[in-house]
Amino acid sequence: MGDERRPCDQVRVRVPATSANLGPGFDAFGLALELYDELVVTPGGSGVTVQVTGCGAGDVPLDESHLVVRSIRAGLAALGVPVPGFTLRCENRIPHGRGLGSSSAAIVGGLAAAYGLAGEPLDRERLLLLANEIEGHPDNVAAAVYGGFTIAWVDGDAGRAVRLEPADGVGAVAYVPANRVLTKEARGLLPSVVPHADAAANAGKAGLLVAALTQRPELLLTATEDRLHQEFREPAMPESLALVHKLRGSGLAAIVSGAGPTVVVLGGSPCPPAPDGWERHELRIDPVGVQVWSMEAG
Ligand code: HSE
Repeated sequence: MGDERRPCDQVRVRVPATSANLGPGFDAFGLALELYDELVVTPGGSGVTVQVTGCGAGDVPLDESHLVVRSIRAGLAALGVPVPGFTLRCENRIPHGRGLGSSSAAIVGGLAAAYGLAGEPLDRERLLLLANEIEGHPDNVAAAVYGGFTIAWVDGDAGRAVRLEPADGVGAVAYVPANRVLTKEARGLLPSVVPHADAAANAGKAGLLVAALTQRPELLLTATEDRLHQEFREPAMPESLALVHKLRGSGLAAIVSGAGPTVVVLGGSPCPPAPDGWERHELRIDPVGVQVWSMEAG
């Protein structure tokens, strides 16, 4: 069999924002959103040149330690393809440090770019394994890889996921505050032990949320109740929890997105304007996950 790999002039990648947990699905549920980071990678030379516009510009490193660069390198190593140098352009629209999966987008986008550089078709199952190794939690990366609504789990060390189709008309409104919260800080607020009744309540609501998101959106408000993480994180994001309570009090299925501090309302109901100083994005569900386009040489 001939070598299927072909060199390319340039690789373009589009990778979605994601919202994890979705209330009761802690570390498991993810939803891909139509808010995208875009990457352009041009192979050549022996080192890396990184240009960033949009979110994170001026904050992120522009060298080998850049998360997309590290992920491209990891992907190339896994595929056994030497690409010594490249130029990377990042056009970032996913806010950083807000619980919308910017790190996962960087990792999944970088790994997907490696497939493009290698001239290999995307293997999404392997992409998820590699992405989970770098990220450490499969929930956001699964949604960025597959799009739609994903349920992720870890099998030994391996990140796995199934993708489900959200019901028609289910979308998300994201309320993004100006402040950032580190995932590590938010995880540090969680207790190591929870009451059995709370675990049982979350298990039931997580099951119900699968039905609500895929078939019965009218159940989203009750199905998004959580007892395992959101309230414990209140000290790190009091305004976010206050907004969740206010929105839920008016009948909207509001949750803390991932480790916060963004608040997301699931469903299709009209939502109020953002509080002062917050951004508000009305987003549809991204159906396909990360996408790669390669321009072949010669
Ligand atoms: N599920 C994680 C958390 C965030 O809530 O800490 C995303 O991996």
